[in-house]
Amino acid sequence: MNVEPDAVESLSRREMPIGSEDDVVVVRRAVRALAQKRGFNAFASAALTTATSELTRNVWVHARKGIAILEEVADGGRIGVRVTFEDEGPGIVDLERALAGGFSTARTMGLGLSGSRRLVDAFRIDSAVGRGTTVEIVKWKEP
Ligand SMILES: Nc1ncnc2c1ncn2[C@@H]1O[C@H](COP(=O)(O)OP(=O)(O)O)[C@@H](O)[C@H]1O
Ligand SMILES: [Mg+2]
Repeated sequence: MNVEPDAVESLSRREMPIGSEDDVVVVRRAVRALAQKRGFNAFASAALTTATSELTRNVWVHARKGIAILEEVADGGRIGVRVTFEDEGPGIVDLERALAGGFSTARTMGLGLSGSRRLVDAFRIDSAVGRGTTVEIVKWKEP
């Protein structure tokens, strides 16, 4: 058996499709509702929902479709919200450059990934060209 010291337990899980511009608002709203339900403060809630908007938009703009998995998570005494964005789009050719900020293949600001990363407590990205992209973010509730 493999027990991680910082094992995160999933308390609830909801999968939402991303396939239109409107889904940016729909997913954002659902994440905000989870943060409010769990009693996140206004700053944490805004940070999480802003990151969620950016990452949902990335799926829509750069990959056209995918899913967002919304989870309430617990880690020892902490409660948090984890959102995982998965797509089978083109993947990110130069991940380091995309994460540095100011780089965009869509001729937009190129601050979605770098900005989101700063707004959350945990940020994990996995991308393979021709295979797709997965981004996972976690925001913990302040004690
Ligand atoms: N889900 C994704 N699939 C493919 N490429 C992506 C994805 N998310 C981000 N990228 C790539 O990383 C770049 C930077 O993303 P981001 O910082 O959000 O800026 P922007 O969306 O304004 O271009 C994008 O221009 C794109 O090339
Ligand atoms: Mg973006």
